[in-house]
Formats: sequence, C-alpha cells, structure tokens
Amino acid sequence: MPATPRPCDLLIRNGTVVDGTGQDARRIDVAIAGDKIVGLGRYDASAADRVIDADGRVVAPGFIDVHTHDDRAVLASPEMTPKVSQGVTSVVTGNCGISLAPLSGVAPIPPLNLLGSQDMFFADFPAYFDALSDVGVAVNVAAQVGHTTLRARTMDRLDRAATEREIAGMAEALDDAMVAGCIGLSTGLAYPPANAAPTEEIVALVHRLARFNGIHTTHMRNEKDGVVDSVRETISIGEVTGVPVVISHHKCSGRANWGQTAQTLPLIASATHPVALDVYPYTASSTVLLEDHVRSAERVLVTWSESEPSQAGRDLAEICSDWGCTVSEAVTRLLPAGAIYFQLDEADLERIIRTSEAMIGSDGLPHDAVPHPRLWGTFPRVLGRFVRSRGWLSLEAAVHRMTGKSARVFGLAKRGVLAVGNFADVVVFDPETVLDIATYSEPKAPAVGIETVLVNGTVVWANGAATGARPGRKLTRERVVD
Ligand code: ZN
Ligand code: CU
Repeated sequence: MPATPRPCDLLIRNGTVVDGTGQDARRIDVAIAGDKIVGLGRYDASAADRVIDADGRVVAPGFIDVHTHDDRAVLASPEMTPKVSQGVTSVVTGNCGISLAPLSGVAPIPPLNLLGSQDMFFADFPAYFDALSDVGVAVNVAAQVGHTTLRARTMDRLDRAATEREIAGMAEALDDAMVAGCIGLSTGLAYPPANAAPTEEIVALVHRLARFNGIHTTHMRNEKDGVVDSVRETISIGEVTGVPVVISHHKCSGRANWGQTAQTLPLIASATHPVALDVYPYTASSTVLLEDHVRSAERVLVTWSESEPSQAGRDLAEICSDWGCTVSEAVTRLLPAGAIYFQLDEADLERIIRTSEAMIGSDGLPHDAVPHPRLWGTFPRVLGRFVRSRGWLSLEAAVHRMTGKSARVFGLAKRGVLAVGNFADVVVFDPETVLDIATYSEPKAPAVGIETVLVNGTVVWANGAATGARPGRKLTRERVVD
C-alpha cells in the first residue's frame, strides 16, 4: 500500500467515494492537506496526522445548495447549522429576483421582505462582501444580484415596464455587482414587483451578463397554467443573449396544471441553448402570503405573520374558522406574512428530479418563524427517501445533481467533484440512515446520518453539531473545464 501523500493533514479511509461526476462509487481513501484534496487512492494510515475511518460510509463532495435565500442568514447565523447539518458546503444566494444588495433607503416590499427589513440591506455588493468576510461564514457563498432589488432601487413604481433610462440605471448597478464578484442575475417574474417587466427588459439586463460570463436564474413568470409558455420565454431569453439560464424550483402549481412536466421537460431537454433547473424534494411550495397562491393550493400553512405572529404554524382554514371570516379577510389581516402551499404533484416531482438537467436546491426561507421543512431537510430527504427508499435515482446520480452538475452549471471551479487539486469540501454520511427529520409541524430539526462535513479542509460539522469553524469563502464564477 503506497504511503500517504505528504503533507497530509487528514485521511478519510475505507469509505465509498461517490465523487460527484456521476461515475460509479469506488472504495478508496481521500487525502487532504490544507484546503485541498491531495490524493485519492489506497494509503497507509500511519503517515497521516489525523484519520477518519469511513468504513460503511459514503464520502462525497460537499453539497452545493444552488437555490437559497441565505443572503442574510450567512451574516446573522454564520455557523449555518440548517445547511451544514445537511452536508451543504456552498450556497448560491440572491435567488428569485431578490438580493440583499444593492439597495438602501427603500422599504422592502414583498417578496424582498423575505430577506429582512430596510436597515438590513446593503447599498452595494462591495459592502455586502466586506460584511461577509468580516463575519466569516461556515459555508462558501456565491451571490447573485436580484432583478427585483434592481427595480426597487431604480424605479418609483414597480407595476410597469422600466423605461430606457431606468434600464440603463439597472444595467449600471448590475455591472457594478458583477465587477464586485456576483455570479449572475436572478429574476422573479411571477412576483408583483417584477411581473410587469416585459421580456425585453429582462433581455436588456441579461445581455449585460455575457461580458462577465454571468448566469441567469429565473423564478419564471408563471408556474401554473402558463408554465409551458414561461419555459419558452426563459429559453428564448437564453437564446437571444447567449447567457446560460437556470429555471428555479421547477414545478407545476395547482391541481389543474399537474402533469405539465410532460411538456416542460422535453422543451428544456431539447433546447439548443444551455438550460438547467433546480428542484426541491417536496410537494408544497413556500413564499410570501399571496391570495393568488392561496386559491390554487389544497391547503395553506402560515409560516410567519408580522401583524398576527401567534398564527405562525397554523392552517389558514383553521384561522378562518376561528376568526369567522373569509380567506381574503384572513389574508388581509395576516399581511405581511408568509405561507406554505400544498399545490404540487409527486409524479411531476419525480419526473423533474430524474431529468439530467436537474440540480437540488432547497429554496429554504431561513427567517420564517415556522419555515418550510426544506430549509433543514432537502439534501438528506433526497438521499433517504428518493434514493434509498424509492429508488428514483442511483446514489451516484443524486450526488451528481447536488455537486458536480451544480458546480459545472454555476461555474464554481475546483468544487463539486472529489479530485486531486480540488478544494476539500467533503461530506461523510451513512447511506443506510441518512434522512430528513424536519416536518411541516416540526421544521427546525437537523437531519440524521450526516456525520462529518468539511469546508475548505476544515471540519464544520461533526458528532451531530456544528463545530463553530467558519472557513467558507466567497465564490466567483469561472468557466469550468473538465
Ligand atoms: Zn422563487
Ligand atoms: Cu426561491
């Protein structure tokens, strides 16, 4: 057996390595020195400073949560327990059109208020990134700038298209954000503050990304009866601008629209332009409380309410009967508020997760009083329920959708694959026990089976607890070559 590569700080021995590429698992050791992987093979343990015996365990690249709203969570709770407890080592922030910068002096209207109140926003990305490095975060952070944030800082009212002058103002702020190190632009066209933006407004801004090698991610204009047209709009924006696009949390909401993945997925797969998608493994969605969503849902749970905080965690139907009022009246009384909407079909979910375009993203909402369980459960849920119990995917394919595929699409160089020379973002988990514990009634519960998590070679999760280490870095977008 060859000697351990020198220097070697840590040797993860005897594990089953699922390397993130989608290739078959191999029983080999992983040698780590500093923040990098320095060897993959069979090594003599005697020379390593520290050894983790991973016999019977899977050793995989740390998971990349490609869809988060962790913009403020990384500052407010930098140990990032909801994420590191799942094996997540990198988060992509700024999704759905909303980012914590660049915005100041403006009261955040929904859905911007999911991120925080007015004084928590940052005037520009250099200030945001400075705050990140001052605090030090457990996980790596790749930030996007939100189109709705740009609109809110630039326009006096958001129920109309931006003028040419306003587009120029947004484009300038977008350029500044990209220069500061953002990886791209997200849009949230389904939401009232961006819904009046015509395709041309988006094209004009996405076009700016081309020179920065940026990426466009989108919470599409319509995820209900217009979902097929929205996929077409999304692909056309990519084709016109040449900028790769990710369809955020792909879903077909509302019983009347279940099964539409039979149209959307072939459209996505046959696009000549790079299109990927992210998906969370649940059949309920969650965002701000919107009457439009209430109407298409089978059941609604309130996740927070500013005016009626004691109603958080309760069923909207129960609230209505307690109050003896209509749904509209209850919604008005609860606002501003958030909710979980049971409105998705499991057959669609299965089809989406199984497509090769899919990446796993939690879409967790870290500041909700009683959040959707996806915040704490997403990655172990896929591994425990959909890989182990139901066999929707092989373990290798599932890990690929959490790591290698995600790093490739988002341009996170030397991440997402266990290879010599790559950063040592690593998760060790038990494939027999890994499982989400968070539920709709008890959502703040760490998963089980995630044993050790390393970010840049430093242990951030071990023995069922965050270590408190904060080795995360800001990630920028690079062209990832094989
Ligand atoms: Zn969204
Ligand atoms: Cu989102």
